[in-house]
Amino acid sequence: MTGFVNILLVALLAVLTLSGCSAPFKPGGKSKGEEIFEAKRCISCHTVNNNAGRAGLIDLSKEGDKRPAGYLDKWLADPKSVDKKAKMPKPSLSDEERSALVDFLVSLR
Ligand code: HEC
Repeated sequence: MTGFVNILLVALLAVLTLSGCSAPFKPGGKSKGEEIFEAKRCISCHTVNNNAGRAGLIDLSKEGDKRPAGYLDKWLADPKSVDKKAKMPKPSLSDEERSALVDFLVSLR
């Protein structure tokens, strides 16, 4: 029984440590998702700033209002799996990057 309690405590500590490391906000003020959004060139086709960017960019400023997280996750895994006619190229993202991006997109409203 004590062995089991110990395992539980270790697991709890691990979860707390890991969640501390993946805190969504960095000192720079940008969330991890927003940094990935810029680093992965999403910004070459999209704006998240109420179209304050260049004309012709697809506006995602209210995306969190329009789409639930599950939808966005599927979309980023493969746009064509959601819409056969999707023109957006399938982005190359790790699971971690995709989930940070989903958190960021959901926050846009
Ligand atoms: C080469 C241009 C291009 C790039 C790069 C691109 N997108 Fe898109 N994206 C599109 C287009 C075009 C659409 C509109 C739907 C369609 O026809 O595919 C779209 C739609 C979306 C949508 C809306 C989906 C919906 O149905 O509401 C999201 C969210 C999105 N993109 C996120 C991203 C993210 C995050 C990245 C970076 C990893 C990215 N896009 C990179 C072209 C692009």
